[in-house]
Amino acid sequence: MIEVRELTKSYGPTIAVNQVTFDAHAGEVLGFLGPNGAGKTTTMRILTCYLSADRGSATVAGYDVFEESVEVRKHIGYLPESAPLYTDMGVIEYLNFMTQVRHLPKSQRKERTRAVIDICGLEDVIQKDIGELSKGYRQRVGLAQSLIHDPPILILDEPTSGLDPSQIIEIRNLIKDIGKEKLVLFSTHILPEVSATCSRILIINDGKIVANGTPDELSSQAKGEDTVHIAIRAPQDAIEAKLDTLAFVSQWNHVKTDDGVVGYKITAEQGSDAAEALFHVVVENGWSLTELRQESVDLEDVFLNLTVREQE
Ligand SMILES: Nc1ncnc2c1ncn2[C@@H]1O[C@H](COP(=O)(O)OP(=O)(O)OP(=O)(O)O)[C@@H](O)[C@H]1O
Ligand SMILES: [Mg+2]
Repeated sequence: MIEVRELTKSYGPTIAVNQVTFDAHAGEVLGFLGPNGAGKTTTMRILTCYLSADRGSATVAGYDVFEESVEVRKHIGYLPESAPLYTDMGVIEYLNFMTQVRHLPKSQRKERTRAVIDICGLEDVIQKDIGELSKGYRQRVGLAQSLIHDPPILILDEPTSGLDPSQIIEIRNLIKDIGKEKLVLFSTHILPEVSATCSRILIINDGKIVANGTPDELSSQAKGEDTVHIAIRAPQDAIEAKLDTLAFVSQWNHVKTDDGVVGYKITAEQGSDAAEALFHVVVENGWSLTELRQESVDLEDVFLNLTVREQE
């Protein structure tokens, strides 16, 4: 339903979106995960026809975002990063207004307004002006307007940003529910958000897609390696000379030296029983071991590894 190929967009010298390519299908809740400035909003604005790209192509529901923007907009609901809500309008008045903006036939306007009030849990606030609403309820009104024309595709830019923990859970559940029937693409820089809500994750960093897969796939991809935390009381030079000779160690990083105890984070080939082998190395050299811990990789490591900016 969404097909993006080599999409590229620069702002002057900044490449905001760099050859982004991905597909998204009906029935998916796709999490667009990346740190601040990664290019999430820029990509979404291109897909929703608010921004042109420099290169590449994108189709949404089969329509070209650059050539057929009217059709594209009919098929998507969009919740921008800062929702442009009219604060002096009443909730119903605003949703009604949106039915007109979306050119819904008169006969359907009331019914659709009702439907989105229901879906988004707005019943308690329909008497209020948007300006009086809490951030969470405003966000729901934003979601409601994105759903008003019952589009098959929803694009939500950080729908939970600025909400309190209970509101976040409510919005996430709402997204999950909506995702049963529609394709939802939503952005966030919060990892637990995607693990909790998404069927698939796209990780974007510095304008590039650096990972694409289900939460399980991404963590198992990273599981090609084990991490061992070790602290040894011994001369640092001697330890490091030894580490360099160990074939199963793919990488080691000195993390601390504390009172003669030197700590390392060691990456080793998976299944190499690195912790046990390192234990023997310590014993053979007559050193003393003060910490030895092997950890498996989780999604958080994947995200951090993929989105760490190169040191400048
Ligand atoms: N209108 C603009 N003019 C110049 N540079 C821009 C503009 N909009 C975005 N950028 C730059 O493009 C890059 C990507 O920005 P974008 O807003 O797409 O990131 P994002 O992933 O949405 O970040 P955030 O999590 O902070 O919302 C950033 O380096 C940003 O500074
Ligand atoms: Mg953004």
